[in-house]
Amino acid sequence: MIALDSRLSLCASYARKGKRLADIGTDHAYLPARLCLDGICAGAIAADINPEPLSRGQKTIADCGLENMIQIRLSDGLKEIRPDEADDIVIAGMGGELIAEIIGGWEYSRDKSKRFILQPMTKSELLIEWLCANGYEILSQDCCVAANKCYTVLLVQYTGEQREYGELFPYLGKLDPKKNDTHLRFTESHINRLLKKANGDARFAVLANKLREAVYGDR
Ligand SMILES: C[S@@+](CC[C@H](N)C(=O)[O-])C[C@H]1O[C@@H](n2cnc3c(N)ncnc32)[C@H](O)[C@@H]1O
Repeated sequence: MIALDSRLSLCASYARKGKRLADIGTDHAYLPARLCLDGICAGAIAADINPEPLSRGQKTIADCGLENMIQIRLSDGLKEIRPDEADDIVIAGMGGELIAEIIGGWEYSRDKSKRFILQPMTKSELLIEWLCANGYEILSQDCCVAANKCYTVLLVQYTGEQREYGELFPYLGKLDPKKNDTHLRFTESHINRLLKKANGDARFAVLANKLREAVYGDR
């Protein structure tokens, strides 16, 4: 049986019932398999750039008897995915810059009916900056802890509007670290990373202090 950890469970919680899912960089295909078994997805594509992860995915799909619901696809990002094959697109377990590159490299990403479920392993602030600059709105964002590591997941949709945002928004996004301890833990990891970078560039220390003030100002 497939039990998702809290990171993939958080991604799964953003999938819409009855929609088609594409899981880009699927590896074991655990996420689409769980969503199909639970009757959430109408069908799914499990895509990966490498054949070895795809064979692992194929095994999961066969073990679960989901061959009629999930297709395996060798694809660099979304390049081999047709627009009518996916409503909800998951890109999890990759760096923020690669995720931005994958979204930007697919001409159908700007279809307003599509949603992206994004779980950057690193540089979430660069991903958020890219999303803002390219007309994508963060509909929701949450954090979770898995194997004692803190992760964030974003639910995103193209609106075409490029909104003004403050210098802390790439770090905070839609999180509320004043009210939510997991959001606080994720924000603290940003503060610590900024402080490390501050050894080479004092501007990062200023940013870290502003972020700290925003989080702990009236705590
Ligand atoms: C760390 S695994 C993440 C697996 C799963 N999505 C998760 O979050 O647990 C990253 C996967 O992304 C795949 N990958 C890396 N770059 C990719 C790209 N440009 N397009 C599709 N898949 C990619 C890798 O082959 C690998 O299987």
